[in-house]
Amino acid sequence: MPIITNIEDLRVLHQKRTPKMFYDYADSGSWTESTYRANESDFQKIKLRQRVAVNMQNRTTKTKMIGQDVAMPVALAPTGLTGMQYPDGEILAAQAAEKFGVPFCLSTMSICSIEDVAERTTKPFWFQLYVMKDRAFIERLIERAKVAKCSALVLTLDLQILGQRHKDIKNGLSAPPKLTIPNILNMMTKPRWCLGMLQTPRRTFRNIVGHATGVGNMSSLSSWTAEQFDPGLNWGDVEWIKKQWGGKLIIKGILDADDARAAAQSGADALIVSNHGGRQLDGAVSSIQALPGIVDAVGKEIEVWMDGGIRSGQDVLKAWALGAKGTMIGRSFLYGLGAMGGPGVTKCLEIIHKELDLTMAFTGHRDIHDVTKDILYPGTY
Ligand code: GLV
Repeated sequence: MPIITNIEDLRVLHQKRTPKMFYDYADSGSWTESTYRANESDFQKIKLRQRVAVNMQNRTTKTKMIGQDVAMPVALAPTGLTGMQYPDGEILAAQAAEKFGVPFCLSTMSICSIEDVAERTTKPFWFQLYVMKDRAFIERLIERAKVAKCSALVLTLDLQILGQRHKDIKNGLSAPPKLTIPNILNMMTKPRWCLGMLQTPRRTFRNIVGHATGVGNMSSLSSWTAEQFDPGLNWGDVEWIKKQWGGKLIIKGILDADDARAAAQSGADALIVSNHGGRQLDGAVSSIQALPGIVDAVGKEIEVWMDGGIRSGQDVLKAWALGAKGTMIGRSFLYGLGAMGGPGVTKCLEIIHKELDLTMAFTGHRDIHDVTKDILYPGTY
């Protein structure tokens, strides 16, 4: 068993242990992947100011996201097909997040259903919503999230049509995977995954299968989005959803100051600066580059968070310094999950927390609330 000391170690193990089509699904961006890469590399360009001879005892990274106590300003992002990265993946990730004291957000396109996760956790989680043409189905989904006592709805606005990820097409991505010869040969090299999958009943999109009517190809994310997602989605629909839900609302997928103002006006509780992990509009600006302009535009009216490219606690601290009151991690926790299941997600959170805490100390702070742009080296952000 290799010694895991950083997120890259988890990524390597994830790639080794998970069927190629699911690893590739997580670890890809759209078209040239330039935005996916920029999300990570733009963090690297930002430099920190080292401070010395300041008291570093009794440090804390605790804060609140939409009023909820969190051990650090990090939540697990909604990611599709998580239960294909590792058997019962959403349940295991939700349990690890709960234990660590950070929020978990379940995707509409999850393998384990809202009910599966609710039955196996003790604290409320968040639910991410994609808007489909069938509004009766959306009403039922929202109702199910309420019954499950979800404490926030995360409404994704940047995926009404799916960005093209070449690898998914080439791999014939589906859940469950089709039993073709290349797939069988690849799965034979992942015995742990196969054994786990044989032992769980959760192998399809369980938020949807058995709940939606008139569905064509239910195993394919791309045909489901093409047939069912509503490309006519607009701010009027956001208002309708807000009313249906009636609880805390978080708007995900904002990259432009005008859209940020509309999100603030919608009365949402938070917005997430995001380009969907570089999986939608390739060539869009990186999330960390977009963040300061959006904080300037609406930071006083609404909580601004960000996701995209976070692979370390240093990235979390840089985002915080630039005004993000929260961050979300997608691939980082998926790498942990695919590598080692629930303990892998815990490992990911421990790594990020330790990096965040030590970096905060090296930059001269003991409480994350005292950290501002001041920790960043002038001219590098
Ligand atoms: C969304 O579900 C995605 O695949 O990015």
